[in-house]
Amino acid sequence: MRSSNIITITGAGSARTPALVGSLVKLKERFPLKKVIFYDIDSERTSKMEDYIRLVLKTYSPETEVVFTIDPDTAYENTDFVFCQMRVGKNEMRSLDEKIPLKYDLVGQETCGPGGFSYGMRSLGAMIEMVNQVRKHSKDTWILNYTNPAAIVALGLDKVFPEDKRILNLCDQPYSLMRSFAKILGVEQSILRATYFGLNHFGWFTELKGTDGKDYYETLKTYLRDYDFKPYNAEQRSKSWLDTYLRVNKYMNFFDEYIPTTYLQYYFFSEEIVSESDPNYTRADEAKDSREKEVWEICSKAVGTDSVDDIEIITNSVFGDLMVELAESIAYDLHNEFILMSRNNDIIPNFSKDAIVEVSGTVGKNGANPYKYGDIKPFYKGLMEGQHAYELLTVEAFLEKDYTKALQALTLNRTVVNPEKAKAVLDDLMEANKDYWYLS
Ligand code: G6P
Ligand code: MN
Repeated sequence: MRSSNIITITGAGSARTPALVGSLVKLKERFPLKKVIFYDIDSERTSKMEDYIRLVLKTYSPETEVVFTIDPDTAYENTDFVFCQMRVGKNEMRSLDEKIPLKYDLVGQETCGPGGFSYGMRSLGAMIEMVNQVRKHSKDTWILNYTNPAAIVALGLDKVFPEDKRILNLCDQPYSLMRSFAKILGVEQSILRATYFGLNHFGWFTELKGTDGKDYYETLKTYLRDYDFKPYNAEQRSKSWLDTYLRVNKYMNFFDEYIPTTYLQYYFFSEEIVSESDPNYTRADEAKDSREKEVWEICSKAVGTDSVDDIEIITNSVFGDLMVELAESIAYDLHNEFILMSRNNDIIPNFSKDAIVEVSGTVGKNGANPYKYGDIKPFYKGLMEGQHAYELLTVEAFLEKDYTKALQALTLNRTVVNPEKAKAVLDDLMEANKDYWYLS
């Protein structure tokens, strides 16, 4: 029997928390839970989900102690894993991050372009504070971070805590794409092994093999050239996500050497994406009207009942499964394979050593063991150098409160380029974010 774990969910007010609980319950034999601490500084959102979460855990994992708190010491004084998924500024600020760039005909997206910059500036301060709060109690607690924009958060935390080996930043998009590839290929996701390189939300699959000895890469590439790419759970996806997947097909009409992550489209097809965006109704609104609404409805059914009989249990979340499987691989030293973020060092020898790259690798009790990738070709290197410089200047702008670096960062971003627009959008974002960050 595996030893039991204490975990803290930071940012527990996210509408994704019930799905994460679904993964915890589904995988509880593999990752047994002694205690789960739900921590959020805003109890208004967690209170909408508390009855549901308590009922699900009481029903499916009665041995697990459940705590809800708004106090960081209660959250961190004795915990093995922090699953961090905070959203600084909540949906209201996500909405502004997406809408303000559109005023200047720039991409309005939560992690890419000016929206990602603005969100990164908000996340960095709160994430640094979180690491300090956790480390005040223990140097051994694992921090698994899902807070976006993960590229900027990961680079910032690496600069501020360079010796801390127990912070892992993760993204579910490569994992989610692999689930979709498996469905297309008609195989179990667990048999697929990918080779992948890039930065977070900025990478490519370069090989796909099966543990059955087959090479699936060419079959998949041929499929993506000839058929519409749909996510594995297309029926549950909103229109904007379906369009996002289709642009992988579009990218491959131009460059079919490697399979891109969906996020690259924002850098390649910025104008088309802007022209198709509604400046009054962006992904933040769509997510609120779909996922959040559904989650609140399901959770409200748990109020005043002791039985799950009439309640749909939210499960099969890619992000939830990834979080729990990663923690499992660390806790029991399994060396399972993931696509993960790491400081480059020599993973890609012809690329900046201090960049945070995203590659395949294994995870065990000592953390991530990324596979060495090798040199990359000029096209990808050129794209990544620009994007890395943007990420680095964003982090430095935050740490030094430096307006010029922020302007340089946005000008380097492929979704912006024009310094006049960069300045206009920066000034607008700074005004909207004045409760969170400032530059001079
Ligand atoms: C993917 C990305 C995440 C991002 C999420 C947004 O899963 O990897 O980084 O947070 O999409 O999804 P949403 O449904 O909120 O637009
Ligand atoms: Mn991501």
